[in-house]
Amino acid sequence: MGEVIVIGSINTDLVTYVERLPGAGETVTGGVFKSFPGGKGANQAVAAAKAGANVSMFGAVGDDSYGRERVESLWENMVSTDGIIVKKGSHSGIAQIIVDRNGENLIAVASGANHELKPEDVSGLIERNTGGDATGRGETGAGETGVDGEKAVALFQNEIRQEVTERLIVQAKSEGYIVVWNTAPAPSGRVREEVLSSTDFVICNETELSALVALGNHHPPVEAEDEEEKIRELAGMILSKGVGNVIVTLGSRGSLLINDREIIRQESYTVDAIDTVGAGDCFCGVFAASLAEGLALSECMDRATRAASISVTREGAQTSMPTREEIDSFGR
Ligand code: RIB
Repeated sequence: MGEVIVIGSINTDLVTYVERLPGAGETVTGGVFKSFPGGKGANQAVAAAKAGANVSMFGAVGDDSYGRERVESLWENMVSTDGIIVKKGSHSGIAQIIVDRNGENLIAVASGANHELKPEDVSGLIERNTGGDATGRGETGAGETGVDGEKAVALFQNEIRQEVTERLIVQAKSEGYIVVWNTAPAPSGRVREEVLSSTDFVICNETELSALVALGNHHPPVEAEDEEEKIRELAGMILSKGVGNVIVTLGSRGSLLINDREIIRQESYTVDAIDTVGAGDCFCGVFAASLAEGLALSECMDRATRAASISVTREGAQTSMPTREEIDSFGR
């Protein structure tokens, strides 16, 4: 069983399902309300655990019933919760979500305790005393290997404060973890070069990729022949800063993994989507779990895609994450 640590957000999702998403200033009635465990960090932790990894979550909740429920539900999903701290005087993270009949969504987050998390809350807990450089580069993911090629992966998103994420990415790299950073939502400020060169895998969508490039003061390509060429050029700018691999998710058009030596093109699977909330998190969590298991990059991409395809056929974020057996049997 590979090891995955997840450092990030923990939310409760308050979801209203409606026919169509409202426009600005508009009210849409006739909705159905449901509440689910969410937060990009916690979602990715559950996805990785259900895919078979040994997962520990590091984050913060408020001293309220939402926070207690979230810790409980992570624990029930086999995620270690010893690294979750309670921030007195803060509310737990809340996401207000609207989902339409095609499964598309709008999300607004009140970060609460997630934004109170400090590097010192986590840094002592993720020390490994192994040293070494886990590059995560090459077809097998390379990097430091444990028993049977397993590796320790540190998985980050962007729903806690960016400076906290940046500090802990640099630490995780120096501790020997393979660092995977899902840059969602897009960074709000320039990312330090030391952070990029400490990151083995960036996972982003096209919008987040453009934002990363713009924040680095790069000039995006003026004329690209086609969409893939444009993505390759943008990814190349991130790779030139020392990132090991860039994975760009393209929704129903699949995804691309780009590094200095190769491009892996991953096709999507056709399913009837009812709720896409957490699908990106499912991809990231299962990718990290597969990487930690020592699987080839092409296999990590395929497993992550199959898992995300299953997740969009179910309601909720953490409640939609598939088991290892479901991932193995899907599409075969
Ligand atoms: O990625 C989906 C998640 O984003 C939701 O679970 C919500 O909590 C927001 O953080």
